[in-house]
Amino acid sequence: MLDIERRTLLAWNAYGTHHQARGTEIPEADRLSWGYWPTAGPGEEVLGDLTGRRVLDLGSGTGKFPAHLARNGACVDAVEGARAQHERAVARYGGQAGLRLIHADAAEYLGGAEPYDVVYSVHGLPYIDPHRLLPALAGALAPGGRLVFSALHTSSAGDGPSTSVTARPERLPLAGGGSLTVRMWVLTPTLWEDLLVDHGLLVDRIDVLTAPADDTPLACTLVRAHRPDSRSAPGTGPGRLRS
Ligand SMILES: C[S@@+](CC[C@H](N)C(=O)[O-])C[C@H]1O[C@@H](n2cnc3c(N)ncnc32)[C@H](O)[C@@H]1O
Repeated sequence: MLDIERRTLLAWNAYGTHHQARGTEIPEADRLSWGYWPTAGPGEEVLGDLTGRRVLDLGSGTGKFPAHLARNGACVDAVEGARAQHERAVARYGGQAGLRLIHADAAEYLGGAEPYDVVYSVHGLPYIDPHRLLPALAGALAPGGRLVFSALHTSSAGDGPSTSVTARPERLPLAGGGSLTVRMWVLTPTLWEDLLVDHGLLVDRIDVLTAPADDTPLACTLVRAHRPDSRSAPGTGPGRLRS
């Protein structure tokens, strides 16, 4: 793990500890939302039918989205790297049928996991170095398995995505005042596509979702990809949306 990833996890741990001390309630999610806004935009339907599938939520935080999917009949594993965030999830959803809460770095976990049919991440994936995560992730997807994730595209300060695979600092505001700094890979849709294709995945669709309020430039990328069957070699085949 890179030092910046480790420091980012420490920041998320401090964030979780802050909320544990405040006794912050975890709101119940009644839909999966890929943006930073709870109501508008696509929901869990983009994951397809989850019945009988092995599903992983990557960077699951307080667990509200995997808990929602599990309440609706899915069996979901949820991996979260920051201990305090994981503890909050366990305190709220521990023991819920269909939900397994795992405390681990997602890349290390995926390196030893049984293959998943669906891996999704709501703003969890961009905190992990793509060069470390994507080999483990591509290897942990079953043939035909889906990857769907959302990632910051343009910050509320108006900073757009990068065309190089580098992490940048972003502010993580704390309830009650103050903030922490996290490092994120905020990449253009084209760069995400290139990285996924380079790791043997086929990209089905990439959307840029903009905030419903028109007073903020905030936007996020929603990426849908899948692992082809084993006949295609990494980096070959019609993986790219553009030619
Ligand atoms: C923006 S939060 C999203 C949480 C959750 N997906 C949600 O939407 O409620 C990002 C989460 O990713 C977690 N995370 C960051 N780096 C991670 C890593 N290397 N392995 C697993 N989780 C990680 C953070 O601790 C944090 O809880």
